Amino acid sequence: MGLQIVGWGTALPEKTLTNRDLEAQLDTSDQWIRERTGIRERRIGDSTAELAIEAGREALEHAEVDPASIDMMILCTTTPDQTVPATSAKVHEALGIGGGAFDLNAACAGFVYGIVVAESLLAANPAKRVLLIGADVLSRITDWTDRNTAVLFGDGAGAVVLQGCSDTDGQLLSSDVGADGSLSGILYADLGGKMKMEGAEVFKGAVRAMIGSSRRALESAGHRADEIALLVPHQANLRIIEAACQRLGIPADRAAIVLDRTGNTSSASIPLALIDAVRADRLSDGDLVLLTGFGAGMTWASAVVRWRESAR
Ligand code: UT7
Repeated sequence: MGLQIVGWGTALPEKTLTNRDLEAQLDTSDQWIRERTGIRERRIGDSTAELAIEAGREALEHAEVDPASIDMMILCTTTPDQTVPATSAKVHEALGIGGGAFDLNAACAGFVYGIVVAESLLAANPAKRVLLIGADVLSRITDWTDRNTAVLFGDGAGAVVLQGCSDTDGQLLSSDVGADGSLSGILYADLGGKMKMEGAEVFKGAVRAMIGSSRRALESAGHRADEIALLVPHQANLRIIEAACQRLGIPADRAAIVLDRTGNTSSASIPLALIDAVRADRLSDGDLVLLTGFGAGMTWASAVVRWRESAR
């Protein structure tokens, strides 16, 4: 069995928080934030469920599929609205999903983890359609008095409808997932607490994880980095993306970038960047796309996808 992407949708809160706004409340500057991260502004507000419902509904409408025909909905999130039940329960109800639903937390690598899980569900049958959503409200666990982290994060959601198909029509060519729990102390939030991060350590780990994981995924797909038409990296810091591009041998202008407008939205960052590139007509039939993410845990995941216009 293969997997096709047959629809997509996004959601961002209405409220924009610019670097200038942050200058007014923190010892920071628009120039520092732009030069050290590439971020200009981020959106904040709404709950994880609200954003997931909006993005999920748009993806279902775009795919023109009945929500009742979705066999499984996976909500990738690191910021659930409640401890119990899973946030997917509310989203499932609001969208009228027919099958099951669960939350998946693999931090910023969550969406690519979700693709891998969806593929195995589709391969195992009876799941024929999966709604995969990445949604996070990092503003809720951000310490707005800590300039080391407050300038980085934002809220948002992105969703895709995935459908089973024959192996030859499948778009997912390969994947790589991994984790290293010995690094759990460099980026964390205790229950009810705010995020704490050793920025430089995360930066180094991120570049290492993205490069290693991307190379493994490319190798198992039987493709070279220079064949990649679009790189869709986790949107944490433009300098991390540029370092990864350089070491992988992918020109930086082939990277999909939304972090200038969204900041780091964790599980939502890869679908937001992918869908933004699709809407900007950056992909043609047959193009190779490399998705690669890393996050708290640390976790990492990469996938090589062949874009198919005909799937939509
Ligand atoms: O989804 C995964 C999550 N996170 C990440 O991927 C983040 C990974 N890390 C990073 O992106 C970068 O390490 C940061 C953006 C967090 C920090 O950038 P950096 O270039 O590594 O800065 P730094 O931590 O080495 O700090 C350099 C200086 C320090 O001042 P001194 O000690 O040189 O006087 C910091 O105190 O910049 C200062 N600084 C700031 N200055 C103005 C740190 N944050 C800020 C700020 N505004 N917001």
